[in-house]
Amino acid sequence: MRKNILAPSILSADFCHLEQDIAQTVDAGAQYLHIDVMDGMFVPSISFGMPVIESIRKCTDCFFDVHLMVEQPERYIERFAQCGADGITVHAEATKHLHRAIQQIHACGVKAGVALNPATPLSALDHVLEDVDMILIMTVNPGFGGQKYIPQMTEKIRTLRQRLTQMGLETDIQVDGGIKTDMVRSVLEAGANICVAGSAVFGEDITGRTKAFMEILKEYRQ
Ligand code: DX5
Ligand code: ZN
Repeated sequence: MRKNILAPSILSADFCHLEQDIAQTVDAGAQYLHIDVMDGMFVPSISFGMPVIESIRKCTDCFFDVHLMVEQPERYIERFAQCGADGITVHAEATKHLHRAIQQIHACGVKAGVALNPATPLSALDHVLEDVDMILIMTVNPGFGGQKYIPQMTEKIRTLRQRLTQMGLETDIQVDGGIKTDMVRSVLEAGANICVAGSAVFGEDITGRTKAFMEILKEYRQ
């Protein structure tokens, strides 16, 4: 049985008290921390990088799920692994050598994910499906927190889960962008099992908001 996981995105946390924000969501049950690295090239915005990840690694044992929104991510895979990443996700659109990038991630001893932008077809994964630990279906165009979920992505998740099942694979499917509590059930029902949530977790009452997500994730059995 697949495990349902909450991955709060620290992009929406308050960097003045990042340690407290992280502690609140982890203590309330979040299993992953989703860490969005943006380079100002693959996406318009720039977020943060290695020094921040190295710092927060000292304050929690939580799984670090690093989402690289970076051109030619293979340049940085080793460095992010050294900084404490437990999983590294690269975008299929950002590298000419996706298979090699996945091998590089595994060679560092961390889990490998591949992300697809909303307009990228699932066929981009055709020859790597058996090699990845997680597939990230972007449910907004990457680059910013607080955007609206793109409804057509539910069908994409469903098709991907069917394909994985046909191949006998139990690969994790992560959804990222515009995920609020009221839509967790529909993405789980479509076949996702890891929910990223930024603006819906951080801000006010991080504990209460995390618990609300965890309740739905725990009650829903795949
Ligand atoms: C968007 C990032 C997301 C973002 C999600 O490019 O990949 O992880 O933080 O934020 P929300 O949940 O607010 O849409
Ligand atoms: Zn992300």
